[in-house]
Amino acid sequence: MKYKSLLVTGGAGFIGSNLAVGFKQKFPQLKVYALDNLSRCGSQLNLPRLRENNIKFIRGDIRNPKDLALNFDLDLMIECSAEPSVVASLDNPLYIINNNLIGTVNCLELCRRQKADIVFLSTSRVYPYPVINKIRTIETSTRLKWLPAERIYGWMANGISEDFTTCGPKTLYGATKLASELLLQEYIANYRIKGVINRCGVIAGPWQFGKVDQGVFTYWMLAHYFKRPLKYIGFGGKGKQVRDLLHIDDLFSLIDLEVANLSKVNGQIYNVGGGYKVSLSLAEATKLCQQITGHKIRIGTEFKTRPGDIAVYLTNNKKITQELKWEPQKAAPVIFNDIFNWIKNNQSKLSRL
Ligand SMILES: NC(=O)c1ccc[n+]([C@@H]2O[C@H](COP(=O)([O-])OP(=O)(O)OC[C@H]3O[C@@H](n4cnc5c(N)ncnc54)[C@H](O)[C@@H]3O)[C@@H](O)[C@H]2O)c1
Repeated sequence: MKYKSLLVTGGAGFIGSNLAVGFKQKFPQLKVYALDNLSRCGSQLNLPRLRENNIKFIRGDIRNPKDLALNFDLDLMIECSAEPSVVASLDNPLYIINNNLIGTVNCLELCRRQKADIVFLSTSRVYPYPVINKIRTIETSTRLKWLPAERIYGWMANGISEDFTTCGPKTLYGATKLASELLLQEYIANYRIKGVINRCGVIAGPWQFGKVDQGVFTYWMLAHYFKRPLKYIGFGGKGKQVRDLLHIDDLFSLIDLEVANLSKVNGQIYNVGGGYKVSLSLAEATKLCQQITGHKIRIGTEFKTRPGDIAVYLTNNKKITQELKWEPQKAAPVIFNDIFNWIKNNQSKLSRL
């Protein structure tokens, strides 16, 4: 590890806390700081974990440049602080633009001042939903499946690659992330900092405080565990919409590799996800949750598809796999079992949330 100090913004969140803990455990000599405004319900439960792992917590808001006036030297940032909900972005555009775009600019300014390198957590939501939803599908007994006959640049039946168009509406969440990516590339080109962009699909695993509009697979397991009702929303109301998912440990291995090879991946954009092999429809997720928890809960139906929602999304990981020899290791049942065990071990804290 050539870096001496790491700041994880959004460091009390799901991805941020897991990466902060992962880096500190692997590189004990690395100074690790986690900055967070604790706006996400549940993030406060990560504070004891950070403390136990010798990670210094800074209560701060990336929208406020004063909170980023650090009194220590920094040479690496992992930017994980965002409002990650598509639905929240629809309800409150100015909030999302301030948080996810102006906040990122403040983080980039910090990197420029300190000559710190940066790993940026972007999203598959930079790809436009109307174009994705135009890809023809067939309905099997448990899921929607892309038809392999289509010829679309950057698309194959096993996933969407970095060459897929970014033109068209992508929700304000996706737009603020794409705008952040563009600015990050300018900072890399002009201010001699190195950086890499990861366009992640759904990431899942322990310490994700899943809610109805974000962190869907953890939310699904939480609802089964605590016997709370669920709903299949949109796309015919049968739960046949599909996402790939990636275990947080697989994301950590990837980012660890990127940090070790930052000169090689500098300026690159990668699509990152579980791919076709680690994908599920909601109906399939229900079955898995039933098998693991032994609980069968009521699942209602809402026929109306939410604005900006996507029927099928699968990541094509080929670029990152070829360049860094990284591949997802954890299958969907392993991910769901890990989430289940985390809930079981933290049942009383989680039931109060
Ligand atoms: N989880 C996923 O499936 C997923 C998929 C694609 C991309 N991402 C991206 O990864 C990053 C982390 O997502 P996550 O799943 O850990 O979400 P999360 O909500 O669990 O974590 C984000 C953290 O950032 C904090 N935060 C929000 N606004 C802040 C601000 N203005 N100042 C300081 N802290 C702030 C929140 O309190 C929270 O703890 C986000 O950028 C998100 O867009 C996540």
